[in-house]
Amino acid sequence: MSPLTPSHPLADTFGRFHHYLRISVTDRCNLRCRYCMPADGVPLVPKSDLLTFEEITQLVGWLAEAGVSKIRLTGGEPTVRKGLPDLLGQLKAIPGIRTLAMTSNGLLLGPVLDQLVENGLSQLNLSLDALSPAVFRTITRREGLENVLSVIDRALSLKELEVKVNMVVLRGVNDHEIPDMVSYFTKRRAELRFIEWMPFSGNEWTGDLLVSKSEILQRISQLEPIQPVGYSDAGTGTADQFILPESGLRIGIISSMTDHFCATCSRIRLTAEGMFKSCLFENSEIDLRTPLRAGATRHDILNLISRKIKEKKAAHGGMHMIAQNPGRPMVAIGG
Ligand code: 5AD
Ligand code: SF4
Repeated sequence: MSPLTPSHPLADTFGRFHHYLRISVTDRCNLRCRYCMPADGVPLVPKSDLLTFEEITQLVGWLAEAGVSKIRLTGGEPTVRKGLPDLLGQLKAIPGIRTLAMTSNGLLLGPVLDQLVENGLSQLNLSLDALSPAVFRTITRREGLENVLSVIDRALSLKELEVKVNMVVLRGVNDHEIPDMVSYFTKRRAELRFIEWMPFSGNEWTGDLLVSKSEILQRISQLEPIQPVGYSDAGTGTADQFILPESGLRIGIISSMTDHFCATCSRIRLTAEGMFKSCLFENSEIDLRTPLRAGATRHDILNLISRKIKEKKAAHGGMHMIAQNPGRPMVAIGG
């Protein structure tokens, strides 16, 4: 069935086709980033409630037959889950899966990086919100900046890997580091992405700390001229991309708050305990783990997923005021 057919299981009622599945492999994280979660973390899912690798590959197999071609592994922090390279290898072997991506804070990545790439990882987004140890510590409430910087350099040295660096910009916390980040990643020829801070349960979001896309662009244009390139992934991505022609640095801005990109969304999500979500901001989600463990067939599962996708709202999970939406914590969705 063509992806353009409205009755296609992965098509919604707004003509969007969902080929990109983001899978949270754990709700645990080894950092405590202030913009993400409270200091003492969030309630964790019992291990027995996490989808097993077999369950994940089963679901991905069915979704790939339906037309999913890109997978991103997220967390929490995905590298906290044991055996991650094995999972990646199993996903790579599924016919139809063309791109395997991952988002990581980098701290535990060093020992498994080569194996992940050998097993098929081709895109890696690394979170880095500051270059100064003090600001890194303030944001993450942990140590580890040097470790992260060295894993970023190792990742950048791997030719087969496309690396992007994500910075969540917070007013008065790390926004003064924008110029340093620009010059540091210009030298390293890495794409740098600035992310507007989004509200999630437990992250104490306040508009005062939000630095908007237009302000980020204005700050960067004070450093160097800047030219628009268009949205990533041939217009379906979340990052509005720019190039700084003098230095050659590519930047992207992810502006969920002030300039959302919902109209071209191609993403669906699976939480670590097997809940399916058709939007990051959607509060109603559907349990796939229980039916899967009760013996549901491919047909049953795709019906459940399809029904949820058909209910997907035009923008932001139908929430006009996402700032007032309690929802799940980000760490329990997977970004
Ligand atoms: N707003 C914006 N970005 C966030 N991230 C985590 N929480 C938030 C939030 N509230 C980012 C992380 C990481 C990715 C998974 O999402 O920095 O790069
Ligand atoms: Fe962990 Fe990522 Fe949340 Fe930071 S933003 S606490 S690294 S899940």
